[in-house]
Amino acid sequence: MKVTVVGAGSVGASCAEYVAIKNFASEVVLLDIKEGYAEGKAMDLMQTASLNSFDTKITGSTNDYSKTAGSDVAVITSGIPRKPGMTREELIGINAGIVKEVAGNLIKHSPDVTLIVVSNPMDTMTYLVHKTTGLPKNKIIGMGGALDSARFKYRLAEALEAPISDVDGMVIGGHSDTGMVPLTRLATRNSIPVSAFLSEDRLNQVSEDTKVGGATLTKLLGTSAWYAPGAAVSALVQAIACDQKKIFPCSAFLEGEYGLSDISIGVPAVIGKDGLEKIVEIELNDAEKAKIQESAAGVTKTNGLLEL
Ligand code: 2OP
Repeated sequence: MKVTVVGAGSVGASCAEYVAIKNFASEVVLLDIKEGYAEGKAMDLMQTASLNSFDTKITGSTNDYSKTAGSDVAVITSGIPRKPGMTREELIGINAGIVKEVAGNLIKHSPDVTLIVVSNPMDTMTYLVHKTTGLPKNKIIGMGGALDSARFKYRLAEALEAPISDVDGMVIGGHSDTGMVPLTRLATRNSIPVSAFLSEDRLNQVSEDTKVGGATLTKLLGTSAWYAPGAAVSALVQAIACDQKKIFPCSAFLEGEYGLSDISIGVPAVIGKDGLEKIVEIELNDAEKAKIQESAAGVTKTNGLLEL
């Protein structure tokens, strides 16, 4: 299993590290446009191999896509991250051109690759890749919901004062500060609905804290987060590499599912060797349906800024 990560910044390097440590990939190629940067990060990561007990071979490349040839999975993290106070949508002007070029370069050397899009605004970047590459829709996965769900579980465990291993929950909708839809109604603590433990007000607070999880960290860090985004991407890569058939909320291209079409937005999906293998349509109540429609309207508005 060969994995390429484009963008050797914090998110990309964290993803490469987690993929390597999980030891399911034979090779990880880390690529960046900054001279020597990916090579340096790859070498530094390889010097952890004996300490972290992995055999994955990590190599770095300065913008030489021939080194990515034959990749099974490629992760696009390139582009600029947001600064405190910025929305993800404000990044579109710069990141759209980068993502389009990177996707084209990857496919040129790996025509059967599965692409995982991380760059923001992620749902719109994923839509851009659908519209400009011609890859089958199962081969294009937007990573946002896996990260948002991890933050949701963190907030739920905090509110429940429970171990996070006891908590389950999912966030669907757009990967944006206002468009996320944490499914509090379906969240559980060891199969027990969390509403048995938390008031509606407290659950609403958990939901709001989840939505701004990225912005909260950007304010603290001065830039976008990287550990949890990197870990979320590595979980998707592993599900593909090991054909796990795990369900993750991912930005998927919809053609009528959830009453939406011609949009890429976060919905539950089965992830396995063929990428985004199946979109799972769950029963939503009227309030949740309205939130998804509102979220989709926001993503569609951002998509309208693309010059396709
Ligand atoms: C986040 O929410 C970078 O969009 C990513 O942290």
